[in-house]
Amino acid sequence: MKNHTTEDAGLLIRQASEIMDEEPWYVAAMSNLSALLMTSMDRLNWAGFYLLRDGQLVVGPFQGKPACIHIPAGRGVCGTAVAQDRIQVVPDVHAFPGHIACDSASASEIVIPIHHGGRVVAVLDMDSPVTDRFSAADAETLEEIVRRMEQKISWD
Ligand code: SME
Repeated sequence: MKNHTTEDAGLLIRQASEIMDEEPWYVAAMSNLSALLMTSMDRLNWAGFYLLRDGQLVVGPFQGKPACIHIPAGRGVCGTAVAQDRIQVVPDVHAFPGHIACDSASASEIVIPIHHGGRVVAVLDMDSPVTDRFSAADAETLEEIVRRMEQKISWD
């Protein structure tokens, strides 16, 4: 994804789909998806998932430094994505009111809500040590992966 080519994006989406086709159970799929994203995209320091449980986000499978375990809906970038049910692309986390700094190296962030049964059940969260890391093309690619997760993942 260094040059954000359509080919790279297409490959990443196909690899993500294959991971879920092989094992759709959310723990296995999210574990390998976080590893795929972390190793395929450059300039990242965290890539993974938070799951909504009893109204708050709880950390799920991820790659990176140990992170905040609980995030209330409405708090931070992740909780805002849940409360607004909308993708958050934050070019400078220090300018985002209420940003939760799990890793002080994080400078920019993207968070995408994941739905099941018409509700947000989880988020994909990616952090970068570089300001303005996530382009519109990255957001489109990651949104496509999340759409496929919504179709393929088994939540049991
Ligand atoms: N920065 C996030 C918290 C999670 S970490 O980035 C892994 C937030 O503000 O919600």
